[in-house]
Amino acid sequence: VTVTAGAQQAFDLLARILVEPRRTVVALENPGYPPLRAAFAAAGARIAIVPVDEEGLIVERVPAQAKIVCVTPSHQFPLGAVMSAPRRAALLEFAQRHGAVVIEDDYDAEFRFGDRPLDALQTLDRSESVFYVGTFSKSLFPALRLGFIVAPPWAHVALGAAKQAADGYCALLAQETLAAFIGEGHLARHVRRMREVYAARRKTLLDGLQRDFADWLQPVPSAAGLHLTALADRSLDLETLVERARRRDVGITSLRRFDADPQARRRQQGLAFGYGSLDERGIAEGLSRLRKLAP
Ligand SMILES: Cc1ncc(COP(=O)(O)O)c(C=O)c1O
Repeated sequence: VTVTAGAQQAFDLLARILVEPRRTVVALENPGYPPLRAAFAAAGARIAIVPVDEEGLIVERVPAQAKIVCVTPSHQFPLGAVMSAPRRAALLEFAQRHGAVVIEDDYDAEFRFGDRPLDALQTLDRSESVFYVGTFSKSLFPALRLGFIVAPPWAHVALGAAKQAADGYCALLAQETLAAFIGEGHLARHVRRMREVYAARRKTLLDGLQRDFADWLQPVPSAAGLHLTALADRSLDLETLVERARRRDVGITSLRRFDADPQARRRQQGLAFGYGSLDERGIAEGLSRLRKLAP
């Protein structure tokens, strides 16, 4: 395990050791997480964007020359799909066949509200091709800046050297404190407790969307994490709505912000709603303000 300054440093270190500038093709989910894209762009990668559907990344659309494929299989960011078992198998098969690696970004899967989770890609991997990236940003808090990479053995030396070159090591006091917190069972208790808190917030949000916004927003089914997305009719001007909402202290995000090709025509549009730092009353108030602004 390589301890990193959040998932973001994990992406940066992986880009440093895996990307050959201007040659390496990296396949990224679209829509996806812009800071991940930024890390690979900074390393000089050739970025290929690949669409997602309700089963996660559409593996057959990954270009054959891709040497790195980045995915959020437990909870696609931002749309929310769980990558299906056949897609997981297809992605691992792709990696093995093409000598590619997979970066599995498991950023918020501690908060799962439905079924038992599917096995992580790394658990299923038989060819040492998966890098598993975890973070404590969602299970605890982002300012902690602690995450980790579980890498295949062949990459350990390079990864250790990259971490050493970047910043030596993560603050030991924070690492020791977190290790004790986990060891004494507090993290597991915290996650169990917060799962109920987040489930209640999520229900408030979902009920409100279904009750008051059904005429123009369709929530995307998903059962994990700290945010929810909803799709909207393409004719609506969501960018203006987001801007007006922001002026009324309602923080919603247009899905376009997560699109690597926002000018593309015929793209779905929608909104992302986060509930990690807003209680049920806040959510209800936000939705009521939004309703007054909405079309
Ligand atoms: C898709 C995705 N990956 C990773 C992260 C975590 O980033 P970090 O650990 O750098 O805070 C986030 C946080 O919002 C995220 O949405």
